[in-house]
Amino acid sequence: MNIVLLGAPGAGKGTQAQKLVEEFGLAHISTGDLLRAAVKVQSELGLQAKAYMDAGKLVPDQLVINLVKERLEADDAQSGFILDGFPRNTAQAVTLDSELAAMERNLDAALLVDVKPDVIVKRLSSRRTCRSCGYTAPAGVDVCPRCGGEMYQRDDDKPETIQKRLDVYQTQTAPLIEYYRGHSILKEVDGDRPVDEVYADVRALLTK
Ligand code: AP5
Ligand code: ZN
Repeated sequence: MNIVLLGAPGAGKGTQAQKLVEEFGLAHISTGDLLRAAVKVQSELGLQAKAYMDAGKLVPDQLVINLVKERLEADDAQSGFILDGFPRNTAQAVTLDSELAAMERNLDAALLVDVKPDVIVKRLSSRRTCRSCGYTAPAGVDVCPRCGGEMYQRDDDKPETIQKRLDVYQTQTAPLIEYYRGHSILKEVDGDRPVDEVYADVRALLTK
């Protein structure tokens, strides 16, 4: 199963991806997690990406595309993957299609987790993220339930940056909904319900 997750920042892409990984053993390729890891170790990529991320803007396509290519070629992605946070604009979607075609692979579904902006602002302002493994949970969870790491508030989960990320989503990423509808692989789920209810629908949509 090869899946792309679509949805606004805070829609619950990472949360649903974690559950799909646990059940189906897919490789979780989150460009946000990969970029935050690069920032943490202050690699060349991290140094280039940090200012864009802090401002809520997209990191230049080529930097992100290189990261994704490398992950798609890794062993753990050969039996299936979930792309979370990629593609983010039409240029990235077109590149993904040609990279997969060159590998004689294809996407089975583009799953849109749909949530309204007012819910998003609330969720992101109270989100905590694991410094070690990227696991996310609402505020109040101080120790990562998965790895025991420290939970912290992401720099871009501050109100001004959240609004900027929502604007970027509307103008650059939302057009991908029509892109994937045009490829007949779009599936949609109402993400404004309890996590397990959303997941029950996600599962049904992906396995039928
Ligand atoms: P990225 O890390 O991808 O951030 P994002 O898309 O903004 O998505 P989030 O991680 O914020 O949200 P999510 O949908 O995964 O929600 P989550 O499950 O955590 O990107 C960060 C930055 O990196 C970008 O701004 C950009 O600069 C750069 N970048 C990344 N990819 C790029 C690319 N391809 N090209 C260029 N630049 C790129 O849930 C949110 C919260 O809600 C959590 O607290 C969770 O516990 C809670 N929650 C989840 N589901 C529910 C539910 N059903 N009910 C109640 N609460 C819920
Ligand atoms: Zn963790």
